[in-house]
Order: sequence, then structure tokens, then C-alpha cells
Amino acid sequence: MPETPSIEPMPPRAPGRLPGIGSGIALLRRPTAFLTRTREALGDTFVVDVFGYRLFFVFSAEGVKRLYALPEKEASFGLATFTLVFKHKIPLELAMGRRNRPHDLFGSQEVEGYLEDLESAVSHELTEMGEAGRFEAFTWARRLGHRLGLGCWAGAEAASPRHLDRLMPLFDRLDTSDSFVRPWRAVFATATGKWIERRAMAGIEGVIGEILAERARDGREPGDFLDHIAESWSDVPEDERAVQIARDVMIIHMGAQSNLYAAVAWTLVDLLQRPELLARVAAGDDELLERCANESIRMAQNSLTLRQVMRPLDVDDGERTYRLTPGTFLATMLSLNNTSAAPGLDVYDPDHYEGRRLARHVPLETRELVSTFGHGRHSCPAQRFSISAIRIAIRRLLDRYELEPEFRDASPSPRQLGAVARAAKPCRVRYRARSRA
Ligand code: HEM
Repeated sequence: MPETPSIEPMPPRAPGRLPGIGSGIALLRRPTAFLTRTREALGDTFVVDVFGYRLFFVFSAEGVKRLYALPEKEASFGLATFTLVFKHKIPLELAMGRRNRPHDLFGSQEVEGYLEDLESAVSHELTEMGEAGRFEAFTWARRLGHRLGLGCWAGAEAASPRHLDRLMPLFDRLDTSDSFVRPWRAVFATATGKWIERRAMAGIEGVIGEILAERARDGREPGDFLDHIAESWSDVPEDERAVQIARDVMIIHMGAQSNLYAAVAWTLVDLLQRPELLARVAAGDDELLERCANESIRMAQNSLTLRQVMRPLDVDDGERTYRLTPGTFLATMLSLNNTSAAPGLDVYDPDHYEGRRLARHVPLETRELVSTFGHGRHSCPAQRFSISAIRIAIRRLLDRYELEPEFRDASPSPRQLGAVARAAKPCRVRYRARSRA
């Protein structure tokens, strides 16, 4: 258990003083409700101790602005993610030594380069759906998310039924989205020497190895992401190469799945509840569809934004200045400000967006108070890719099918901590192919 870092002066502390647990149980039970209540009681700046970690929460305009502005060497995004999300669940050899990060991939190729891959992944999915049936929106979107992502960075082959059905369950076993919030899973992973995770890794390495071997045998180099990743490992021995390529793919795909599929699902679920908007989108308004996607993400964004303090630093929250010491986590929770930082933000309305940006007429104290893809140096490198993926998926679905929701309302799961939320209850949808006439 790490020594609890000091903060000067000490801000109010959230209730929950059990040794080693702190406010952990209350926070995990209903994270957004717990933090909302704590903020009402203690103000915009407070400390929450959780399972031996000290979280310094800021919600004021000044405090949140400072969080996003701090350089990595003073308050680290990478280390915070590793300490609270990866370390407990992921074998070290997967996290270490990676050569291709999403930044490299999205920087080296224009989004337009993968529109074709996205189209082909969606079209595979729609073909499998047939003429009519029912699906649960989040289950459907999860499968589609695997397909969209893998089709882009693991080759079109990975998104085909032959490989996809093997890869999906393996990736689901590596899912880190709840490792911080489900401490017993982390305990289990540690107790078993991360055996399940290592088996899943070996399975994925095997499938990617097959794809690479087939490409080599047929002399095929389609020039896609997988080729690009493979190229960067051309200097390592043959038997290690496929393993390292597969591990790069794994890290990229795990990052993608933590938000993308839920964002696809919310865009659909929110539209299905608003027939007038749905009709306009179905009639072909892609600009509106993209604004709907951003609005759905804003409303469902439950990311716990974290930075691990690396050296003593000052955080001015607009009222006073606090000195944080190394080991503290500077934090904010997007679900709180995203729906309350200006009047009207508690209601879904795509007019809150102008293109992909929050509309100028939304009266915010500072733009950092609302976040869909983050701000500043760590903002999401896959924003354009993700919005394009959502647009293509929903557009093709609406072009091909008439959809009828079998749910009355949908709300984010109150247990969710981190990432775009999943829904509290299943959102079932009935579909029937539109008549060609
Ligand atoms: C709708 C989908 C997505 C949403 C809402 C989303 C949201 C975010 C947010 C809020 C951040 C900032 C985190 C922070 O400041 O602490 C972020 C960063 C990041 N996202 Fe996304 N993301 C999405 C899709 C993706 C996809 C598809 C990938 C990978 C292919 C990805 C990879 C990353 C990476 C690598 C970072 C960290 C950037 C850095 O280290 O500087 N995201 N994302």
C-alpha cells in the first residue's frame, strides 16, 4: 500500500475512513451520485481516498483548466493510466516496449484512408444481420466496435467472420475498463499470475500471426495499418515479430473499445427516442448526425480524468492554492460538469454543437468544463476517426433498416466509473430491411 501523499492546505475530505478502503465502497457503488453529493456538501475541491490512493478532485473552472494544462513531467497521464488501470490487470510485457501508438497511426494517415475499411466492416455486419430481427444496442455496438477497430488496425482479414469470432472473446478477457473499479478482479488477476490474460494474449498473437503468415505466403502488402505496424518491427527476429506486432494491435484496440462502441450505441439509442431528429438523419443529414454523436458522447461521458503528480506542484482552484505532492492523483469526473456547467446542458440537444465543437452560444466559464474527447496535450488522437466511424455505422444502419425501439427510456449505468457509460438497462431494437422500392 503506498504511503498517503500530503496536500497543503488539506481540502475537505469525502466521508469514508475505513483503513485501506477509504471512500472506496461508496464511490464504487454509485460513482456519479457519490461525487455529486460530495461536491454539494464540500464544494468544488475535495479529496477522496480510495483503496490507498489519494484523489484530489477539482470541478471549478480554474481547477479543471489547470489539470488539462499541466505538462506530463509534472502530472502524468501515462503513469496514472498505468497505475490505476493497467498495472492490476495487464501483464507487463504487453504494456512495455510498444512501438505504435494511436497517435502515430492517426498522424501518419489521413482519416479518409480508413473510411473504406470502416465501410467494409459495417457492410460485413449488416450482411450478417439479414432481413429482419432484434438486437440489443450495446451488444450490437460492441461487436461492431470490434469489427470497425480490428478491420482498421489488424487488417480486413481480422474483421471477417473467420477471425473475428475468435478474436472478440479473447479481447473481452483483456478488457481493462473496470480494473480500477472492480478491485477483486485485479486481486484475482494478481493471484492467478494474470494467467487468463496471458492466455488471451497468446490467442490473439496466434490469430495475428496467421494473418501475417497468409499475407507473406500470398505476397500481399495492402498498405494498411497492419502493414505499417509490421514494417516498424522489421528489424526483430521472425519468431518474435508477430508477437510484437500483435501486442501493438492489442493496446490500440483495447484503448479504442473503452469508448467507441458505447458512443455508437448512445448515438443510436438517443436518436431512436427522438423521432423528429431520427427522420431528419434518416433523410440523409450527416451534419446533424455528427452533431448528435457529439451530443450523445457529452451526455454519456463518464470519464474519470486523472493525472499522477510527479513533483510538488501548485493547483489554484480560483479560491485558494494547494500544494500537491508526488503520488497524489489530480482528478475530475466528466459526467458532473458536462451536464451542469451551463444552463440547458442537462438536456440532450444537438444544437449544443456546431460541427464537432461545442457551440459558441453555450455560456461556459471555460471551455475545459465540457469534454467529449478531452483537451490539450492528451486529448484523443482518434476523435475524427471515431466520429467518422459513428457516422458511417449509423448512416448504413438507417439506410438499410427501419428500426423500432423496444425500450421506453435509457440512462447511463449508475455504477459506471470511467469512459463513455454503458446503459443501465438493455435497449432492444427491432429491425426490418427497407423495401427497395
Ligand atoms: C467516441 C470514442 C472516443 C472517446 C469519447 C474518447 C475519449 C477520450 C478522452 C476524453 C481522452 C482524454 C483523456 C484524458 O485527458 O485523460 C482520450 C484520450 C485518448 N484516446 Fe480516446 N476516445 C475515443 C476513441 C478512441 C479510439 C478509437 C482510440 C484508439 C484507436 C483512442 C485512443 C486514445 C488515446 C491513445 C488517448 C490518450 C492520448 C494521450 O496520451 O495523449 N480513443 N480519449
